[in-house]
Amino acid sequence: MSEVRAEHADRVALVTGAAGGIGAAVSRTLAARGASVIVADFNSDAGEATAAEIRAAGGRAIFRKVDVTDEAQVDAMVQFAVDEFGGLHMAHNNAGILHPGDRFHELSMEQWDRTMEINTRAVALCMRAQIRLMLANGGGSIVNTASGAGIGSAPGISAYTASKHAVVGMTRSAAVEYVRDGIRVNAVAPGTVDTGMLAGVPAERRDELNALMLMGRMAQPQEVAEVVAFLLSEKASYVNGAIVSIDGGSSAHA
Ligand code: NAI
Repeated sequence: MSEVRAEHADRVALVTGAAGGIGAAVSRTLAARGASVIVADFNSDAGEATAAEIRAAGGRAIFRKVDVTDEAQVDAMVQFAVDEFGGLHMAHNNAGILHPGDRFHELSMEQWDRTMEINTRAVALCMRAQIRLMLANGGGSIVNTASGAGIGSAPGISAYTASKHAVVGMTRSAAVEYVRDGIRVNAVAPGTVDTGMLAGVPAERRDELNALMLMGRMAQPQEVAEVVAFLLSEKASYVNGAIVSIDGGSSAHA
């Protein structure tokens, strides 16, 4: 086993929203470094394919179908990690949705509720189940996927912005509550990332999105995965409660 692969040997990871995009990249990265990975998503076809791809590359991964808004399914997903791989050391709460762009006064409250349910309440459900287990097992590391919209905003995404600001708040709350229990909690705040979330975006709008970023391009999922993998690892042993921007400097630009 190479040194890189040995980094997470004997460690178990759970990644939600892992069927594609950022979550799949994180799953592949952790598995390549030796972790056993639960690939969790409600998209069975793509999730199974991601897990199969990891196994074909020599890694350990199992797909788990889950709707992260369902409390019983979330608790069962965390228990599944214990049953299959013997524990849970690293969790990446990453499943999320982006609603179409309405201005605030045009908001559909159904859309508001759905966004909050998946992007916020489900992260709370996941963290709660993971922390209960980690408390019993002597610690662990959690990373939540917030967003640049968890720190600032952009027109037309007010529900998404509110939902991701809450992820930042939950991350900081848990970070200060559990630090002496050996549990670190951090979040990443990506700018725009080239994933399925942007699948319906027309080509000219994609050009605009690229141009809006300070680097003149959006991020690739692997550029987010590298940061998540670091935060989850023991290399980040003194990083807790951090909200790490991954936006090529866009949020630093006055
Ligand atoms: P994606 O659409 O490829 O991934 C989201 C995944 O979440 C999908 O596989 C989807 O099936 C899953 N999911 C959605 N609702 C679920 C539920 N109720 N139960 C289980 N799984 C569910 O998009 P991407 O970009 O990889 O998104 C990952 C995270 O990154 C999201 O939280 C998103 O808000 C966040 N993000 C994305 C950015 C982007 O520009 N793509 C920028 C900043 C944050």
